[in-house]
Amino acid sequence: MKILLFLVSIFLSQFILSAGEFNCGSIKCDNYEADVSDKASLQRGLSTYMNYCYGCHSLKYSRYKRVAEDLLIPIEMYENNLIYDDSKIGDLMEISLSKSDAINWLGAYPPDLTLEARLRRPDWIYTYLRNYYPDSSRPYGVNNRVYQNVNMPHVLEDMQNSLTKLEYDQVIYDLTNFMTYVADPSAEQRKRVGTYVLLFLVIFTAFAYMTYREFKKDLK
Ligand code: HEC
Repeated sequence: MKILLFLVSIFLSQFILSAGEFNCGSIKCDNYEADVSDKASLQRGLSTYMNYCYGCHSLKYSRYKRVAEDLLIPIEMYENNLIYDDSKIGDLMEISLSKSDAINWLGAYPPDLTLEARLRRPDWIYTYLRNYYPDSSRPYGVNNRVYQNVNMPHVLEDMQNSLTKLEYDQVIYDLTNFMTYVADPSAEQRKRVGTYVLLFLVIFTAFAYMTYREFKKDLK
């Protein structure tokens, strides 16, 4: 009985302790459902990432070539449009921004974002990038509801102002989708292989059962 009471109190404490807390800073995370099989969305997300984020945030656990192949982008097209320095297509996606420069200029070092979607979850990133707001007390005149007093400027501000809300949400959807893919590039392949494995098991079970029935006949 005591054990039961103990278990019930642990179960209830979760609700009491989490009451009033939000999973996205000062607000609730918006719903976000990634679809890493949507290659067009991933390609758009990659393009936004390379143009607006890659100057500060490396993806150093990923290689250009892997991304090109997974996203079905011809190597030559990738080299001509999405590699900005003298990196080779087989290189890791590293950037040249040094820690000391970043801290001097920005007040913080922009972390590598390869695994960000696993660390923070995609819905956090999606909500974060859509929740900058004007705040004159901050160095860049903006603040963020999800990440209070963040040292990252609102790098997509011009884009946000020139697009409708729906269009901007789509850009952030694609960008987050790309970050979800890059944090776990083999997720899709894993699912595909998983389907074949299950199919194999079903067929194998059918044959095993038939063999079992044959053996059983002999035993009678
Ligand atoms: C001018 C440099 C710069 C650019 C460009 C930039 N960021 Fe940042 N970003 C930062 C800095 C600096 C931080 C760390 C903020 C802090 O610690 O206060 C940061 C933090 C982040 C974080 C939170 C990391 C964490 O978990 O603590 C995310 C997510 C992020 N950036 C995404 C992006 C995306 C997506 C883009 C492109 C749209 C982008 N950033 C463009 C400088 C930049």
